[in-house]
Amino acid sequence: LNMALPEGVTPIIIGVAADSGCGKSTFMRRLTNIFGGDVVGPLGGGFGAPGGWETNTLVSDLTTVICLDDYHLNDRNGRKVTGLTALNPLENNFDLMYEQVKALKEGKTVSKPIYNHVNGTLDTPETIEPTPIIIFEGLHPMHDDRVRDLLDFTLYLDISPDVKLNWKIQRDMEERGHSLESIMASIEARKPDFDAYIDPQKKLSDMIIEVLPTNLDKEDKKTLRVRCIQKEGVPDFAPCYLFDSGSTIEWTPSPEKLSSPAPGIKLMSGPEEYFGSKCQVVEMDGNFDNLQELVYIESALSNTKTKFYGELTQAMLALADAPGSNNGTGLMQTLAAFAIRDLYEKKSAQAAKAKKESTTAAAAA
Ligand code: ADP
Ligand code: G6P
Repeated sequence: LNMALPEGVTPIIIGVAADSGCGKSTFMRRLTNIFGGDVVGPLGGGFGAPGGWETNTLVSDLTTVICLDDYHLNDRNGRKVTGLTALNPLENNFDLMYEQVKALKEGKTVSKPIYNHVNGTLDTPETIEPTPIIIFEGLHPMHDDRVRDLLDFTLYLDISPDVKLNWKIQRDMEERGHSLESIMASIEARKPDFDAYIDPQKKLSDMIIEVLPTNLDKEDKKTLRVRCIQKEGVPDFAPCYLFDSGSTIEWTPSPEKLSSPAPGIKLMSGPEEYFGSKCQVVEMDGNFDNLQELVYIESALSNTKTKFYGELTQAMLALADAPGSNNGTGLMQTLAAFAIRDLYEKKSAQAAKAKKESTTAAAAA
């Protein structure tokens, strides 16, 4: 008997794609913060961070996070032999990934491999029991058609090259003591495979969070412009917008109500096309000084999928020290987390209704 998955509940599966070092662990923290529940696995060290985690899998009563690096076909030594990078689909076992996503979605337990980031080895597999929400995060959640078709919602974290370099410098140089040359060389080495196999997945995603350098000041290399691109027509997902749906809006919030450091803050919202798909975009360029004041922006947003006014600001405050909490990265990640919660609640309500109807029909027969 599976305690984690209530009878009749089909897990919903969410794909989160991004390059490593692009904010996936931070997003997972925002997501688990909103879902609540006790986190059983390790949290906060970063997926793939050295530090000796026994497992890459994060679990709570409600949520399981599976890191797709566990489906690497070869270990680090094996990749030296093939000469291929971990980004190359040939270095990943999509047949097994598909089998296991499918089994989990059917409520079955799987024995999932573990890729050990410290040693670069494939360790003894671990048993994964399905929970109501399963997050598949990593380099290739949308690459394989069979896997992609099983995903209920897909998110791509699209960090522009300049921003990616800045974040890598911050982490690998300032925190891990790597040299600038080695960081640039590793980015360069990954780029062809990144462009060929990871980046194309953004076109297939339901939501894309784009992180770009600011447009407010050409000299400013630190401030971010963040765009949340939301596809229209995704089942159980209504995009968020500012003020009025369908309108294109540029908004400079009153500095009295939302104070911001130079170069200021600007929002935008409106319909757009993204690789031929109709989308609704919400954009924030710039930083804010005081997280409490975010409630002013929250009051102008519709379809945030919050349960009460102020919940968005509260969720941001709960993780005030996480990267991006003073700008659009934190805001858009939090909006994505609320959208996923809403999707889960809608799907589980539909499942409960279907079950009740079939029970009633059985009783009548
Ligand atoms: P991943 O799990 O994809 O490897 P993390 O969430 O651990 O990424 O983030 C990696 C690093 O990138 C962080 O330690 C931080 O330095 C930087 N970073 C991530 N998100 C942001 C952000 N929104 N703003 C600034 N820096 C960030
Ligand atoms: C990517 C993958 C990791 C992999 C790393 C380096 O970041 O997400 O799983 O370990 O590439 O691969 P390497 O072949 O250098 O061990």
